[in-house]
Amino acid sequence: MAPSFTPSGAEANAAYGGDRVTVLGIPSTGDRAAESLLRYRLTDATQKFLDQQQLTEIVLRVGTRPTGAAKASSLPDPAADPDTRSIADRASHYVATEPDYQFDFLVLPEETVGQLMLAVNAVLLRPIIFDDWGLRKIEPHPSAALNFHGKPGTGKTLAAHAIADRIGRKILVSKYSQLESKYHGEGPKNLDALFLAAQEQDAVLFLDEADSLMSRRFEATSHGSEQAVNAMRSELLMLLDRFEGLVIFATNFVQSYDNAFDTRVRHIRFPDPDHRARAAIWRNHLPDTLPKAGDVDAERLAEIDGLCGREIRRAVIDAATTVAISGQDHVTYDHLAEAARNVVKSRIARPEGTPKPASSELTASVRSAVASEPTTEPTPERQ
Ligand SMILES: Nc1ncnc2c1ncn2[C@@H]1O[C@H](COP(=O)(O)OP(=O)(O)OP(=O)(O)O)[C@@H](O)[C@H]1O
Ligand SMILES: [Mg+2]
Repeated sequence: MAPSFTPSGAEANAAYGGDRVTVLGIPSTGDRAAESLLRYRLTDATQKFLDQQQLTEIVLRVGTRPTGAAKASSLPDPAADPDTRSIADRASHYVATEPDYQFDFLVLPEETVGQLMLAVNAVLLRPIIFDDWGLRKIEPHPSAALNFHGKPGTGKTLAAHAIADRIGRKILVSKYSQLESKYHGEGPKNLDALFLAAQEQDAVLFLDEADSLMSRRFEATSHGSEQAVNAMRSELLMLLDRFEGLVIFATNFVQSYDNAFDTRVRHIRFPDPDHRARAAIWRNHLPDTLPKAGDVDAERLAEIDGLCGREIRRAVIDAATTVAISGQDHVTYDHLAEAARNVVKSRIARPEGTPKPASSELTASVRSAVASEPTTEPTPERQ
């Protein structure tokens, strides 16, 4: 049988026979040029793939998916009854969105930016390195997996968006607690669906709360919840080996990672901003459009020690709100400095090394079990 593209659920109404590839079902849109181009691209790409992989036959399904941003309510509900939907069906609920941020907004030490750019270039140069230079022979599924770790509010999510923007891709955002399920086997299926969705939409996959997934596997699993987490970890390992895109994990609780993950992901630490970085972050968060008094000076604001990027953002918004409420014309240095000090004062005091609150009961049980393992020796990121 010749390889074919079949639009799921749609009637084939056009056919194209290449040497060994058949494309069926491209709809008549009235735009003949666009139809021909799509047909040509599908045929050409498939024939190249068959030749490279020395395959004689593949069957692909090309479906349409909902447009617009993913609504929280349309995502799989981890508490819902186990469902019988196929992986492809589940995948259709994960919809990538345009990145929210660009690289020039991100303030990080040069070394960290260098590490991020390496990852960006690894994706951009893939056709040369793997296809032209033949490195697919040693790595048939080239992918890039990064693990961003650092304290809350240090720019991990921002960096994931910035990278997606830099390589011209959408971003598919999810987190562990959206994937886990109390029902056996559901978590791995959700994970499968998420990776499938990212692959199909050619999106950067951003997976938050990664510590729950990447830490060491439980040796003796008597609890259902531990078995469920182990199953998700095994699935993740397999998916990482097959995934051809860029996946970014993020955590602010660095556990002792399973060796298997340790060597599969590139770890990038997001440090607390120092004085210079704080000044740059203040500058980026004080746009020209914000009415400011002449005494507003990012260098001076950066003297206020210990603020992370998110707290600087908070302080700017609080100061602007105060000014707007009181009917004043300009944000002054004092407004911003007072807002910044209030942000620091309002922090919840936590003892060193306390893990962040668990996002669900299952996550909590996993964290406490891992934390109590004597040989694990987690190195938690200070909160
Ligand atoms: N390094 C940074 N450079 C510029 N802005 C930053 C930086 N870090 C944080 N910010 C500001 O704080 C906001 C929140 O940061 P972000 O969500 O990226 O933190 P995070 O590291 O993902 O935190 P969490 O671990 O809590 O998820 C950003 O959108 C940005 O406005
Ligand atoms: Mg984040």
